[in-house]
Amino acid sequence: MKRTVRAARRLRGVIEPPGDKSISHRAAIFNAIASGEATVENFQTGADCLATVRCLRALGVRIESPAAGALRIRGVGRSGLREAAAVLNAANSGTTLRLLAGLLAAQPFFSVLTGDASLRSRPMERIVGPLRAMGARIEGRAGGARPPLAIQGGGLRGIRHRLPVASAQVKSALTLAGLYAEGETVLEEPTPSRDHTERMLRAMGAPIAVGESGLWVSPLAGELNPLAMRVPGDISSAAFWMVAAAAHPDAELRLTGVGVNPSRSGIIDALRAMGARIAVEEERTWGCEPVADIIVRSSRLQGTVIEGALIPRLIDEVPALAVAACFAEGETVIRDAGELRIKESDRIRATARELRRLGAQIEELPEGMVIHGVGRLRGALCGSHGDHRLAMALAVAGLLAAGETTVRGTEAVAISYSGFWDDLDSVAL
Ligand code: S3P
Repeated sequence: MKRTVRAARRLRGVIEPPGDKSISHRAAIFNAIASGEATVENFQTGADCLATVRCLRALGVRIESPAAGALRIRGVGRSGLREAAAVLNAANSGTTLRLLAGLLAAQPFFSVLTGDASLRSRPMERIVGPLRAMGARIEGRAGGARPPLAIQGGGLRGIRHRLPVASAQVKSALTLAGLYAEGETVLEEPTPSRDHTERMLRAMGAPIAVGESGLWVSPLAGELNPLAMRVPGDISSAAFWMVAAAAHPDAELRLTGVGVNPSRSGIIDALRAMGARIAVEEERTWGCEPVADIIVRSSRLQGTVIEGALIPRLIDEVPALAVAACFAEGETVIRDAGELRIKESDRIRATARELRRLGAQIEELPEGMVIHGVGRLRGALCGSHGDHRLAMALAVAGLLAAGETTVRGTEAVAISYSGFWDDLDSVAL
């Protein structure tokens, strides 16, 4: 599929971004192993989270949708999952595959996990290595480095593991395994990654202690309590509108009910460092997560340096940030972001290549990029590389570029933001 976006004369309006993808996956998985029923509102219904729901159903969990955007999960208890009769397909979703691999490594049955071509090319040794060290028997392509993964679960013991890179998927997979292991599991991260797993599991009664350098996970002594919640709006989806409004000369957008967990809100800090006019209002809490309304107005942007501990706090927002950087004065440098090369696409290469088609000046670095602000882009034909976040970043570039921009491969948008084009049409005047 392809889509043509024209330069917007003005951007005005209110957008309620879809439910947070990371939190939706976790709400489904954690409630599946709780004892009792929970209703999760504003559940993200993009393809990634639906893959998680399908896998959980195949493992014997009853999940219904009593109303649009709501999910009722009947938890089977900590020992209630059943062996699936077929291969579990995580489709494009790394979170589904990695979190379920950790959970299934602890279950006394056999599971096979696979995904689409993109997911089957992504690295799995980061979970397979430590899960094997805990005693799990896992085989896979490339010695266990690539899916499909075949897991004979059960009989785990706790380990102390230092993650080589900040990764919430790895941390969460090992936390789930640790809840079922004998003895304590200690996880240390080089820099903190998103902390939804710790927040949610602790709220459900899991024995997890959080310290400066990491997590201490003790074996689950009883059952987890169900966690009913309303999922905050996804800041990673809101990011596209934040960039669009900040970089457009005549814009004011209000983004309502957006999750502003500090481990996710690096995009606000980075855009503010670039001079963006962003107001965060009506701060409140949904379940165990902070939420706010975010107002973004036309801004005069300057280049900045984005690196270090800020990177995990905005890792999925880099394609959108690269668009903002094209409209900034001076140079924007993104470093320490080598993880971008192993996301749904190689996001360093793909972002640089596609934005150059619109006239951007971007140099690739091994672990980042340098974007020379050119102040304007011109419409062109470009492609998503099958990556949802790149498709939406290019559509935003199209709103800001002169003339018409055609984005190919826009079906990828349905991974995380099915209402994206309706929202675009409603604010682009
Ligand atoms: C996610 C963690 C991040 C992020 C991904 C979602 C999660 O990946 O890029 O989109 O839900 O835990 P890593 O854990 O690989 O950094």
